Amino acid sequence: MKELVENLKKEAIFFKIASAADLEKYRLQFLAKKGKLNEVFEAFKTTKLENKKEFGALINELKNELEEKYSVFTKSLINNKTENELAFDLTLPGDSRKLGTRHPLSIVQNEIISIFEKMGFIISEGPEIEDDWHNFSALNFPENHPARDMQDTFFVDRGYALRTHTSSVQVRVMENQKPPIRTISPGRVYRNEAISARANCFFHQLEGLYISKDVSFADLKLTLFKFVEEFFGSGTKVRFRPSYFPFTEPSAEMDIYLGVDSEEDLRLTKGTGWLEILGCGMVDENVLKNCSIDSQIYSGYAFGMGIERIAMLKYGIKDLRQFFENDIRLLDQFKI
Ligand code: DAH
Repeated sequence: MKELVENLKKEAIFFKIASAADLEKYRLQFLAKKGKLNEVFEAFKTTKLENKKEFGALINELKNELEEKYSVFTKSLINNKTENELAFDLTLPGDSRKLGTRHPLSIVQNEIISIFEKMGFIISEGPEIEDDWHNFSALNFPENHPARDMQDTFFVDRGYALRTHTSSVQVRVMENQKPPIRTISPGRVYRNEAISARANCFFHQLEGLYISKDVSFADLKLTLFKFVEEFFGSGTKVRFRPSYFPFTEPSAEMDIYLGVDSEEDLRLTKGTGWLEILGCGMVDENVLKNCSIDSQIYSGYAFGMGIERIAMLKYGIKDLRQFFENDIRLLDQFKI
């Protein structure tokens, strides 16, 4: 028995511990349930009664020494580790990174853009803080038009306001380019509106403009029919209603037919089956003049649509405010 204890002691003393893996080997070999120390304890059970006292003390001493070595090396391993080594436990499972999603408004906007790009329209952009000329005057808004009122427009400084529509970009493009012009201008616009499920103080529009020789209302209709067919599917019924905008003459609003079959359709279309999608018309002569384009040679059409309304329709979102809350439960549904 004595010999057994002595040998084990030697073995443990000479066991080299240089790493965490060695330490674990040491534990398994000597201290674990199936380790050598336990074997000695097992052997002790069968020793004669008169030897028990002496051997018991030896074995206890052995046990203490083996455990002491284990705890000394455990401590020294931890102390020798740099902070980085402690911080990076390579045995831990990795963190999975969640991929973001595109915002539904971006998805819809990109889809609309790609349809018009296929028809030869190129993107142009303008500033969100706009002067009176580009947002109103050049677009033929009379001096006393209600849109110029503080109640509808966020004025920033004298003569400057947050643009109320992307039609302002039309003016900038026409001032800077020679016809033929074929452009779309997506962007954010601002209005001083009470916030509700159907209105917000900012939203997104996409403006279209085509200026060339001999452009007619028929060209406008063809372009918009094509857009509706691509975006809403072939067979979607469309109608034009006469309307008024200061910057187009004649002006129209375009509706698409949703039907009256579901409660949702009835709600969206106020029982008529028809939903307004955009405003459009032939660019007013005064607007062409304001942008130094000869209206005797050139004519053109323009249209403007709200992205939120189309996205709400596409995804069945009932409250416009949801687009701006950044609620991950909504956004997560738009994985592509
Ligand atoms: N700017 C208009 C609005 O914000 C939309 C619009 C209507 C744009 C007719 C156009 C157009 O280009 O021709 O309500």
